[in-house]
Amino acid sequence: MIFSGLLFVFLAAAPLGVSGLAAGPAACANLTDFLTSSKVDSNELSLQYLGSQKGYWNAVQSSYAPSCVVYPTSSQDVSVALQGIRAAGSRFAIKAGGHNPNTFFSSVDAGVLIDLGSMTSMLYNEDTTLATYEPGSVFGDLYDYYARFNRTVVGARLAGVGTGLALGGGLSFLSPQYGMACDGFRELEVVLPNGDIVTASNTTNIDLFFAMRGGGGNAYGVVTKYTVQSRPIGEFYAGNVIYLFNQTTAVSDAIQNFIQYNEDPKASIIGTYEMLPTPSFGLDLDRAVIMFLVYDGPDAGDAFQNFTNIPHLVNTLGIKTYPDVVNMPIPMSTELSRGDNIFRVGVHRIDDDTFQTALSNWQNWAESNKGSYVLSSIDFQPIPKSLTDASKAQGGNAMQMPDGPWYWVNYLISTVSGLSQTDYDEAQAKFRDMVKNTTNAEGLPLFINDANYDQNPLSTFSTYPKLQGIKKRYDPDNFFTNYTGGWSFD
Ligand SMILES: Cc1cc2nc3c(=O)[nH]c(=O)nc-3n(C[C@H](O)[C@H](O)[C@H](O)COP(=O)(O)OP(=O)(O)OC[C@H]3O[C@@H](n4cnc5c(N)ncnc54)[C@H](O)[C@@H]3O)c2cc1C
Ligand SMILES: *[C@@H]1O[C@H](CO)[C@@H](O)[C@H](O)[C@H]1NC(C)=O
Ligand SMILES: *[C@@H]1O[C@H](CO)[C@@H](O)[C@H](O)[C@H]1NC(C)=O
Ligand SMILES: *[C@@H]1O[C@H](CO)[C@@H](O)[C@H](O)[C@H]1NC(C)=O
Ligand SMILES: *[C@@H]1O[C@H](CO)[C@@H](O)[C@H](O)[C@H]1NC(C)=O
Ligand SMILES: *[C@@H]1O[C@H](CO)[C@@H](O)[C@H](O)[C@H]1NC(C)=O
Ligand SMILES: *[C@@H]1O[C@H](CO)[C@@H](O)[C@H](O)[C@H]1NC(C)=O
Ligand SMILES: *[C@@H]1O[C@H](CO)[C@@H](O)[C@H](O)[C@H]1NC(C)=O
Repeated sequence: MIFSGLLFVFLAAAPLGVSGLAAGPAACANLTDFLTSSKVDSNELSLQYLGSQKGYWNAVQSSYAPSCVVYPTSSQDVSVALQGIRAAGSRFAIKAGGHNPNTFFSSVDAGVLIDLGSMTSMLYNEDTTLATYEPGSVFGDLYDYYARFNRTVVGARLAGVGTGLALGGGLSFLSPQYGMACDGFRELEVVLPNGDIVTASNTTNIDLFFAMRGGGGNAYGVVTKYTVQSRPIGEFYAGNVIYLFNQTTAVSDAIQNFIQYNEDPKASIIGTYEMLPTPSFGLDLDRAVIMFLVYDGPDAGDAFQNFTNIPHLVNTLGIKTYPDVVNMPIPMSTELSRGDNIFRVGVHRIDDDTFQTALSNWQNWAESNKGSYVLSSIDFQPIPKSLTDASKAQGGNAMQMPDGPWYWVNYLISTVSGLSQTDYDEAQAKFRDMVKNTTNAEGLPLFINDANYDQNPLSTFSTYPKLQGIKKRYDPDNFFTNYTGGWSFD
């Protein structure tokens, strides 16, 4: 098995010159000549290199050692890097915020890591209200910048997440008003797998523009500049409400009612159930229900009354700025939640009873697998009709989202660090089987940003054949497919 695997690697790389393990260092040496050592770091002990290697939300990704890290400052640099990597036949990865938990999606072992973190320019055009930004910032930085103009861009609900979010769709607290983050794209600058630098919009490279709006990062090329529709922001009424688990039924009824009946697009929620590994002693101290309630405007009316009426432990609702909203429940929460983290996703309609099934399957699994995780959660994320309408009004995205209401379920397992490979695999297999046991709705897309690679989310899109065609057109010799991670197009 091992030998045939190696043989396959050599054969695949053969037409490209240097093969096997030497390809990474060869690409790095060549790129150091072309880009200079100020943009290529091969020193595994430098703070810069370690910052890139350690900066993953799934800590498992940090165990890999890239041959070097390339820090492009322009689309030309990205083009040179891709051509050098291709010439050497090296593996590579493209990294923005480093929050995708899947192995080799933005991490690489013995290959070239392209860290976009030096490309951080951002601009606002007051005449057109368009925002233009490079991919290297996290959304919190973009929000801070655009807040000066009383504007924002549609992006992450937590400040620390990177711009790769929008390539997987991107669900924001503002999405019920404006659609997914990718629906706001107006023009992208893209470096194609062959090194060409092109523009994609609804008038040029239309098919590429379509695929980039939610059809996944790391597949059709590298986005080096986003031009998006900005949105106005003022005061928000927002906060977290935290309940004891004995309120689970009342809160899950309120979430389901919200998904089904709320028609105010300014009101947005995430319902999360969290479980710690400590024994409960029958006191429910190992678990909590945490609601994220966000209203775009100072007066939420009765939008959240169904939640505040239920007896709760904590209520932080109050007037907040948008940058405060994306730092709920506490600042740095993405950084603080770093660990051996894996996501999985489900998609359901409200008119069946999968809400309760999903919740009780997760609870049963969480109670009987206490030794394998340090934290687990199940999050309910409504997709209202106003969101799918806003998406359609802007041309629709790669998911071609069917009319809401429906909802995505995000499952998180953060395994105990230092598990043996066997124990890790076993914990992941049980978690996978638990999620699989709750049947997904037919005809609805799985959310790329919350998916595990083995869930093949693209194959659930009604547009899958079209995306497969676009992938073939822009990555015709499978350079990205062969040499970096990413979603399956098979
Ligand atoms: C704590 C946390 C909170 C989250 N909150 C939200 C949320 O509110 N809404 C939501 O929709 N999702 C959310 N997510 C999911 C998140 O969108 C995905 O994990 C996303 O992949 C993160 O993007 P990134 O830039 O941080 O990560 P990365 O891992 O750097 O990038 C993600 C993928 O996109 C590729 N990529 C990145 N930039 C480019 C580019 N410029 N060109 C081509 N390919 C590129 C990478 O190669 C990688 O495969 C959250 C995740 C976490 C861990
Ligand atoms: C070195 O990189 C350059 C720039 O991308 C590329 O054109 C060239 O083919 C590479 N040379 C070798 C020997 O890999
Ligand atoms: C932003 O809004 C505040 C409050 O309404 C206002 O005082 C300020 O002048 C606005 N700033 C800009 C740049 O429009
Ligand atoms: C392209 O997008 C712009 C901005 O959203 C819109 O006004 C225009 O109608 C779109 N054109 C096409 C051909 O879709
Ligand atoms: C939930 O638990 C708390 C604390 O033990 C208790 O005060 C409350 O009455 C319980 N509520 C219900 C609905 O059981
Ligand atoms: C609150 O719940 C009731 C049912 O108890 C439902 O009729 C109403 O629409 C809900 N309101 C919101 C905003 O979710
Ligand atoms: C699978 O789901 C069903 C309900 O659909 C449940 O009764 C059963 O216990 C679940 N099994 C596991 C192993 O989660
Ligand atoms: C990718 O792999 C396929 C199958 O092994 C091969 O035909 C193709 O040439 C490879 N592409 C590149 C760019 O190496």
